[in-house]
Amino acid sequence: MVPASDSEHKPLLEAIGLSHHYEVRGSTVTALDDVNLTIREGDFVTIVGPSGCGKSTLASMFAGLIKPSRGQVLYDGKPIDGPSRERGMVFQELAVLPWRTVTDNIAHGLQIAGVPKAERNRRVAELVKLIGLEGFESKYPRELSGGMRQRVAVARTWAPEPPVILMDEPFAAVDAITRLTLQEELIRLAKTTQRTVVFITHSVDEAVFLGDYVVAMTARPGRVLEIVPVNHPPGQRTWEAMATDTRLQEIVSHVFELVRGRAAGTQAER
Ligand SMILES: Nc1ncnc2c1ncn2[C@@H]1O[C@H](COP(=O)(O)OP(=O)(O)OP(=O)(O)O)[C@@H](O)[C@H]1O
Ligand SMILES: [Mg+2]
Repeated sequence: MVPASDSEHKPLLEAIGLSHHYEVRGSTVTALDDVNLTIREGDFVTIVGPSGCGKSTLASMFAGLIKPSRGQVLYDGKPIDGPSRERGMVFQELAVLPWRTVTDNIAHGLQIAGVPKAERNRRVAELVKLIGLEGFESKYPRELSGGMRQRVAVARTWAPEPPVILMDEPFAAVDAITRLTLQEELIRLAKTTQRTVVFITHSVDEAVFLGDYVVAMTARPGRVLEIVPVNHPPGQRTWEAMATDTRLQEIVSHVFELVRGRAAGTQAER
């Protein structure tokens, strides 16, 4: 098994010999091929790889939405056999409830979890502020921009504070400036609330900026090519530091070469 981290924290999510095939009109597409990965409690792991390499498939398996054709996915040592409140997911496509206002979208999971109204209102107000949607609390998704809707989707998943948050390219539709703020806030949130986050992205810069570990995947069928520890300097996780720190820049170049299949000795080079 390939460990994503060697910290003393317990393994929370594990993929063991995971393969997945989709059957489409009589032909078979192999999306994932023998993926092995351990994500430990409190890790912020980013997964980066070419389009179609099976990232969303892998996230959906951790969420319990797809069963693997072969191998196992475990949560806290037990096989994942369906969705659970312990593993919240922000989908690649927009995931808001169109018939609910911003406030009611964010409060949704809290309501299901039976959080009392006063506490619910407090948490929702905090999150509305965090995602920069003050003044839009009573708007419906159709009255928001695409980026605003995606921010609501992030807050909605975050609100009930599941131990694991799976994020499938959550900021892809968000404008570049808002994205910077959301990325910095996401790290702050993840670290202060000690969540385990699996964040999928196409962007190598984003993967290195956010990840304690970057999992680089091969082109389809997706395999784990390399797990790159980032070791961000403590307290300096800012885009300014990313732009000036030569070590971080070298990591970005390395991951970039990996996902393009050009790193020396990688199987994708064949
Ligand atoms: N429901 C499905 N039915 C058939 N094939 C599918 C299905 N979902 C995904 N695939 C195929 O499996 C492969 C992996 O898809 P997946 O969505 O997991 O990739 P991805 O890495 O998330 O891509 P992207 O970066 O473009 O989002 C692709 O070749 C895709 O065509
Ligand atoms: Mg995807």
